[in-house]
Amino acid sequence: MANQSFTKSVLKKTIIGIIIGGILVVAAQQTHFPPIFQIMFFIYAMLGSLVFILLDAPPMKRLEGVKALGALLVFYVLLSGLYIAGASILPQFDPADEAGKIEKILKIRKARSEQGKADELIARAKVLDERAKAITAQLSSLGAGAQVEVASTSGAKAPASGDIIAKGKEQWELQECYNCHKLFGSGGKKRGPVLDNIGSLMTPEALREKILNPKSWMAEGFDKQYEKGKMPDKYRDLMFEEEINALVAFLSTLKDTSVETPKPIKMN
Ligand code: HEC
Repeated sequence: MANQSFTKSVLKKTIIGIIIGGILVVAAQQTHFPPIFQIMFFIYAMLGSLVFILLDAPPMKRLEGVKALGALLVFYVLLSGLYIAGASILPQFDPADEAGKIEKILKIRKARSEQGKADELIARAKVLDERAKAITAQLSSLGAGAQVEVASTSGAKAPASGDIIAKGKEQWELQECYNCHKLFGSGGKKRGPVLDNIGSLMTPEALREKILNPKSWMAEGFDKQYEKGKMPDKYRDLMFEEEINALVAFLSTLKDTSVETPKPIKMN
């Protein structure tokens, strides 16, 4: 009798859990939560049901002595296993790693703005220089005989270009292309095409087009992902010209013909 009503209670609470979970999922979709969160909300609703089910559960037989200790250990091992498994399935972030990446991205931007300020000062100095020369010319044409020494300013030298391919590889990491693309046997969790042989299939010009405008080319067999616009359309806003040049140079070196790389198709 007690068992029967417990079964009923389990059924009722499971159904309530599914309904609440469903409502949460719909609400999360409407408010544009990513799918992983939608799944988590549903799991939370079901865990809530589980708690209420446990409250109604008939009491267990009392365990004592060694048995109680054994049961405690089993419970501990199960729970730890569950947590470890859960943690290894979910993506892990290393804060130090992320901070390092952000620093690298910011470095060039900071250097840029400092270079920008220097350029502006040099430009202003040049204007003043011109004016001083004009005044000198005017003075001498007036016969005043005044000699004004004009110091001319010279522009700052551009920094020597480093190893462009290494920089391109760094962009591959910083822009997180590896999230979707497998390369040298790693990455590609989000299932974009493998790129080990892309340098044989696309010219530097085409690679550049693809990065700046992902709709310009489509990897063969990836029609669905192409339609959905899986490859982000953000690099032209995020990356500087020289960063794109470096990335293209790096991609152009990828000519491992032993790795089957989807054929790019020109779209528009
Ligand atoms: C969120 C996932 C995602 C990210 C991040 C991403 N891509 Fe893609 N990429 C795709 C998908 C999916 C395709 C296949 C569909 C298509 O061609 O649009 C693709 C296609 C390509 C292709 C054409 C491959 C072929 O065989 O034709 C190249 C080249 C490429 N990506 C380069 C890059 C580079 C470089 C980056 C980093 C700056 C990058 N992608 C970042 C998802 C991504």
